[in-house]
Amino acid sequence: MADKPRLWITRRLSDATLERASRDYDTVINHEDTPGTAQDLIAASAEFDAIIPCHSEHFSAEVAAQLDPRLKIIANHSVGVDHCDLPALGARGITVTNTPDVLSDATAELAMLLMLGAARNAVAGDRIVRTGAWDFWSPSFMVGKQVTGARLGIIGMGRVGRAFATKARGFDMKIHYYNRSELSPEAAQGATYHSTLGSLLGVADFLSLHCPATPETTGLMNAERFAMLPDGAVMVNSARGALVDEAALTAALDSGKLMAAGLDCFQTEPGGNPAFAAYDNIFMLPHIGSATTRTRDAMGFRALDNLDAFFAGKTPGDQLV
Ligand code: DGY
Repeated sequence: MADKPRLWITRRLSDATLERASRDYDTVINHEDTPGTAQDLIAASAEFDAIIPCHSEHFSAEVAAQLDPRLKIIANHSVGVDHCDLPALGARGITVTNTPDVLSDATAELAMLLMLGAARNAVAGDRIVRTGAWDFWSPSFMVGKQVTGARLGIIGMGRVGRAFATKARGFDMKIHYYNRSELSPEAAQGATYHSTLGSLLGVADFLSLHCPATPETTGLMNAERFAMLPDGAVMVNSARGALVDEAALTAALDSGKLMAAGLDCFQTEPGGNPAFAAYDNIFMLPHIGSATTRTRDAMGFRALDNLDAFFAGKTPGDQLV
């Protein structure tokens, strides 16, 4: 029997994923679970035929140029691939895949949590009860913004954006969206299309970002765009930190243009933005949109399905380059 392909798994994936990978490949797992550095990736490329990385491993153009030709495929354990320079990797003849679909519901669930938590003062509310400081109640105490029936603007109506819209319909929200192209009536499910971002922002009492981070979308939500929102809007970002100009975000909170924000993604990760700690109206989570047991198993299996197809001489279902 031919030798099994050598596979490096850069982080501690789910047990079921590691078990299947170890059964089917000559697998080395980074049990220390530390992010792979550029040097780690370059060194691994000379020893492994395949790598399963996460968004914590950066395959920049500089790294791509130094990869050993032994490395044939990077099967990402993520839907986002902004950590990979796809043209540079493609030019080196390396196949790159991602894990779409399987994390849409988990990420949309988390976006809903962020939206509700931000709108209903979850940060301050939790703290005041937890610290024993809750010694007062009044009808004007911790009054938030009601989600039910409100207008929701979605930027990026791909898989996660549409999953979020489905959940928001359960709250009778009026769905508006901005996307590269208008969806079919079947996919739009009654959502109103806006052909310009400005038009969408003008109606977004709640705004949720679901587009990928690309050079075009970097700093998408800047001072000018925050100014286009209705006063007292709530913004949610469960996509990528690069989409938001964080200084413009705090300025919009300071001025009251934004009532609150819900963030799972930050420009600096891990760590986040230390300035945000002073804001009770920023409800923050540490990039855990897809972090459910079911979804992490599904992501790992999807990455392995892509590897299996590749090593069987087929085109992986999620091949990007
Ligand atoms: C993704 O899949 O892109 C998530 O952000 C986790 O990496």
